[in-house]
Amino acid sequence: MKKAVWTQTLVAASVLAMSGTVMAAGDVDAGKAKAAVCGACHGVTGQGNPAFPDPMNPGKTKAVPALAGQNGGYLTKQMQDFKSGARKDILMTGQALGLSDVDIANLAAYYATVAGAEGVTVDADEAARGKSLYQGGDMARGVTACMACHGPEASGNDMAKWPGLSGQLGGYTTAQIEAFRSGDRYNDPNKMMRDVANRLTDGDVAAVTAYLQSIGGAAAKPAPVATVPAVAEVAPAAPAPVASASSADGAALFQASCFACHGPAAPALQAPQVGVKDNWVPRLEKTGGRDGMVASAITGVAGTAMAPRGGSALSDAEIGAVVDYVLAQAGL
Ligand code: HEC
Ligand code: HEC
Ligand code: HEC
Repeated sequence: MKKAVWTQTLVAASVLAMSGTVMAAGDVDAGKAKAAVCGACHGVTGQGNPAFPDPMNPGKTKAVPALAGQNGGYLTKQMQDFKSGARKDILMTGQALGLSDVDIANLAAYYATVAGAEGVTVDADEAARGKSLYQGGDMARGVTACMACHGPEASGNDMAKWPGLSGQLGGYTTAQIEAFRSGDRYNDPNKMMRDVANRLTDGDVAAVTAYLQSIGGAAAKPAPVATVPAVAEVAPAAPAPVASASSADGAALFQASCFACHGPAAPALQAPQVGVKDNWVPRLEKTGGRDGMVASAITGVAGTAMAPRGGSALSDAEIGAVVDYVLAQAGL
């Protein structure tokens, strides 16, 4: 229990530190001014629109996503993807074409500070099934826990540009999973999300959508607006200077940044698991030893879910401390 609280504090601290980074990159007020035009489709406060007239299907509607409370890294990537054509939508593409890189940074900074929607009441059995899939995946069918990438509270990962899913409109969540499954959406790096979506049944999609609607974004998101700038100022002075990252730090940093994939919860990802010696011996041989393994963790492993630095903002010394920790846990 004590350990769980401590881990959550660390996660919260790193999430806040990340929001600080986004704040520094974009101007919230300028973003808010620019967002007036987005409100026509995304709602005045970025809360989304569950029933926007669908230009491709006259007489039908489609869900326009909520942007409020989404992390800035992901928002930025999506606007750039629409602009470059890596992601396509008849309504959104034209909007993105007119945005400069500065506009994109400002808009992302703004929407990241707006509180996400609160949870809604859904069928309890459905939500319970969805929760189990979200947190534990389904080993037999090779479904990775959504939590491994989208985070324990579904608030995503700003540095890795992975989306938060809490506080999103249910109709949009379902439509996007279906788009990854059909291949209509293909802007996920390394087919990360398509590989998951392809293993889901319609029942899984309905259940996990219900669960995500039930938790809501308001409580899960960082950023009561007023505290973010304060954290951004404080962050550089935070304790644990990089050069002195120790093995004690390694354990804590591992829990906060690597456990979701390297713990026992995500077997389908085939990430080497903490404490399992056989998983680490071949890696150590491949990378040529401890320093090579640190280098590999920093670069990431192309074509897999192992992003550079595991998607974290850890320094080189901190990654070194985590690698020392996992090697010690494996008795190596
Ligand atoms: C004409 C309607 C329209 C306007 C105006 C519009 N959007 Fe969109 N936007 C959409 C639709 C529809 C989607 C979802 C596309 C899909 O279904 O894949 C979207 C998706 C997005 C996404 C991706 C969200 C996610 O969760 O992946 C972002 C970010 C975004 N819009 C930002 C903006 C911003 C910023 C503006 C204002 C500069 C804006 N949009 C204006 C219709 C619009
Ligand atoms: C291995 C990592 C990974 C796992 C596991 C994963 N996702 Fe994703 N997911 C992603 C990434 C990355 C994206 C965004 C891709 C991009 O850059 O556009 C994404 C996007 C999404 C989106 C679209 C969000 C939006 O705003 O448009 C939904 C919905 C989603 N995932 C649901 C799920 C569900 C449900 C599960 C579990 C059954 C899951 N994901 C498991 C990596 C993952
Ligand atoms: C989103 C999931 C995910 C996260 C988070 C993650 N990893 Fe990984 N990691 C993987 C996967 C999957 C592999 C196996 C890649 C492969 O197939 O070679 C891996 C492999 C590794 C390897 C072995 C590299 C090699 O060359 O064989 C190291 C070291 C490593 N991770 C360290 C870390 C550290 C340190 C963190 C936290 C800062 C972290 N990982 C976070 C998924 C993840």
